Amino acid sequence: MSTYGHDSVRAIKWREDVLNLLDQRLLPSQTEWLVIDSAAGAADAIRTMVVRGAPAIGITAAYGVVLGARRRYTENPSTWRNAIEADLQLLAASRPTAVNLFWALKEMRQAIETFAGDADPVPELLALAHRISEEDIEGNRRMGDFGADLIEGPCAVLTHCNAGALATGGYGTALGVIRSAYARGLIDTVFADETRPWLQGARLTAWELIEDGIPVTLVAEGSASYLMAQGKVKWIIVGADRIAANGDVANKIGTFNLGVIARHHGVKLMVAAPTSTIDLETPTGRDIPIEQRTSDELLTIGGQRIAAAGASAWNPVFDVTPAELVTAIVTERGVIREPNAERVAALMRST
Ligand code: MRU
Repeated sequence: MSTYGHDSVRAIKWREDVLNLLDQRLLPSQTEWLVIDSAAGAADAIRTMVVRGAPAIGITAAYGVVLGARRRYTENPSTWRNAIEADLQLLAASRPTAVNLFWALKEMRQAIETFAGDADPVPELLALAHRISEEDIEGNRRMGDFGADLIEGPCAVLTHCNAGALATGGYGTALGVIRSAYARGLIDTVFADETRPWLQGARLTAWELIEDGIPVTLVAEGSASYLMAQGKVKWIIVGADRIAANGDVANKIGTFNLGVIARHHGVKLMVAAPTSTIDLETPTGRDIPIEQRTSDELLTIGGQRIAAAGASAWNPVFDVTPAELVTAIVTERGVIREPNAERVAALMRST
């Protein structure tokens, strides 16, 4: 338990020279760790949702590069720099929407390009991957404080998907704000919606909050309007996979619904995300690539077909909430209220 409290969950560990990932596909019924010893294994774990959540994907990719470098350098110390390009490409192709993946790969690529001499690059690359992970946790704690400062409590909040310790190096973005605000007595009830089709809310957010002693109440996604109409929920608090330069936010499918409904009911929408999620090279939400996953994810639950035979399914897994529906973007550097291009750029210029 850190000094911040309610903070015991970790899903990514580097142990005995390999990457260990908590298999999030099996939670909450099983807590199993997978050992990943190659860049291809890391890419596969990201693609198949062993690990998910924007910052966690980035951190996993960084360790994936370390594993790739070790293999390539062992095979041939004079050609590893060229050979590792294939690993970088493989990791970059694992999921398209979360920009933290590309941000982390860029950091690792820069370190590879500036690495001097023929010495073993692994210690330096590993130190960078550790730093990416540790800075993510520290940033989330700062974000938690900034986000909690915005909340007048005690009140109830609603969160979507899992933007918690499981989705980051630790502490979480949206759940980081919830952890900090709960510890200060500003939040008395956390509603988590199920988040079809992977049920990140029902399986992961509920598990993570209960592990850390924060009571959680599950709701079906369809109940959001009725819940807000009761008047108790003051904030929707979510994470983000990519924030465009104009402040549009890509996050788990259904976030846009919540933004529209929240505006109707006078409920505020907080997006908690590190600055590595802000992509100034993507001008607007329309330019964000939205991942489409297999229709099986919707047609089945736990491998069991539930949809009528013959039905097909459309399964975009993220949507874009326009900046005008967002009350505040909370980052580790500070808060952008009523985001727009100018305010996003100003925060990104600040240190
Ligand atoms: O498909 P997932 O589970 O990777 O989607 C995760 C989300 O949409 C999260 O809200 C987002 O990555 C922020 S995680 C801090």
